[in-house]
Amino acid sequence: MSAREVLRMDGHLVDSLLLAKVLDAIVAAGASYRILELDLGTTNLDQSHVRLEVEAAGEVALERLLESLHVHGLNREDSADAALEPADADGVLPDGFYATTNFVTAVRLGGHWLRAANPEMDCAIVVDTTTDPVSARTVPMHRVRRGDMVVVGWNGVRVEPPERPRARPDTESSADGGGHESFGFMTSDVSSEKPKALVVARVAASLEAARSRRDQTGAGGAGLGSRVLVVAGPAVVHTGAAADLAWLVREGFVSVLFAGNGFATHDIEAAVLGTSLGVSVDAGAPQEHGHANHLRVINSLRRLGSIRAAVEAGWLTSGVLYECIRAGVPVVLGGSVRDDGPLPDVITDTVRAADAMREQVAGVSVALMLASTLHAIATGNLLPAGVETYCVDINQAVVTKLADRGSHQAFGIVTDVGLFVRELAVALGRRGH
Ligand SMILES: NC(=O)c1ccc[n+]([C@@H]2O[C@H](COP(=O)([O-])OP(=O)(O)OC[C@H]3O[C@@H](n4cnc5c(N)ncnc54)[C@H](O)[C@@H]3O)[C@@H](O)[C@H]2O)c1
Repeated sequence: MSAREVLRMDGHLVDSLLLAKVLDAIVAAGASYRILELDLGTTNLDQSHVRLEVEAAGEVALERLLESLHVHGLNREDSADAALEPADADGVLPDGFYATTNFVTAVRLGGHWLRAANPEMDCAIVVDTTTDPVSARTVPMHRVRRGDMVVVGWNGVRVEPPERPRARPDTESSADGGGHESFGFMTSDVSSEKPKALVVARVAASLEAARSRRDQTGAGGAGLGSRVLVVAGPAVVHTGAAADLAWLVREGFVSVLFAGNGFATHDIEAAVLGTSLGVSVDAGAPQEHGHANHLRVINSLRRLGSIRAAVEAGWLTSGVLYECIRAGVPVVLGGSVRDDGPLPDVITDTVRAADAMREQVAGVSVALMLASTLHAIATGNLLPAGVETYCVDINQAVVTKLADRGSHQAFGIVTDVGLFVRELAVALGRRGH
């Protein structure tokens, strides 16, 4: 016997193609739908609203389909309270735990909807009934403690579909000439054949807007939605863009930096020896015995004790990390099995490294990922869907993978990172090179 249920969805459903995606998925699953209500709003800043009835072959098929649609923001109209179960051991979730998306998520408790704090994908939701009012938060598996009340199943869980980067009143007069049309071209996920000057101008406008919001909310940069996160891979240094990124840090466009041992080592190697992986950054020619330069740099750093100590000793006097230390920009260096040394500042326990990154994510409104598969995807996993995310990589597969892993909000820019960062610095006012 067939089964049916009424569902609803609110948000920017049309320009994000979400509605089309959901309807396609219903038909592809062999089910059918009937639109009961559709309100598209009148401007592209208005949210749309849809109510629809879905019919599938039976209860089991319907439940399976609805669960798969739920992650796109299609929610049950008649929802019961969320079911909770206690965790029976530290770091272990009850079977059937609700696995989060990075969308804003609410749980229904005592008939009221309660937003879960700090949305993050692939986590669980823990409800704390001892607080007044009751609170809910997103918790990664390893941080769950025995006795924590965990949401199980997806009944009583509502997700809000993400917005795509779009024109906002505060960016309309920005460097790209502003306005809604100029954003239209960014509605595809990946830009490899788009005018790069427009893409650069769009990113520059976002960084500028975030910096001015930060200036208004205080020097600490902790104002809600005013922080810019940069994730950098070693190609930034290899392509000669470290000086431009250092300039962006110096000028206050960067609030926090995530990288690994490779980027940090080559940034310091370029600053101290003028090479990146033994190749002269200025002349592009390999130096004799230069292949060991980065190892010598790591060794010196290990003797000095930390990057900060190297700056304070006057040993490190330029580069991205130097500027971060001077400007008080937090840096999280996460380790990998590829690392030489590593530098003393690298957090080699990857669970701890991800936790350190997590602590820096609050208040980030723009994320700029520059040529690192590993660190870009690791960061994408931590960011709420509302963060305007740009991923610059020469390999289209990387930017596509980021979106496929759940960071649907990411806009991919397929280009050489050296040229991109240089253009970005120029668009933001860098002169003299
Ligand atoms: N000597 C070392 O210790 C060392 C050296 C390199 C990397 N690592 C570490 O290994 C891990 C993975 O390293 P990773 O980030 O290099 O590798 P990765 O494979 O994760 O990312 C490198 C990315 O750079 C992109 N890329 C290369 N050239 C580019 C260009 N010109 N323009 C735009 N994109 C370009 C590639 O497509 C790739 O996506 C990191 O933790 C890193 O710190 C350590």
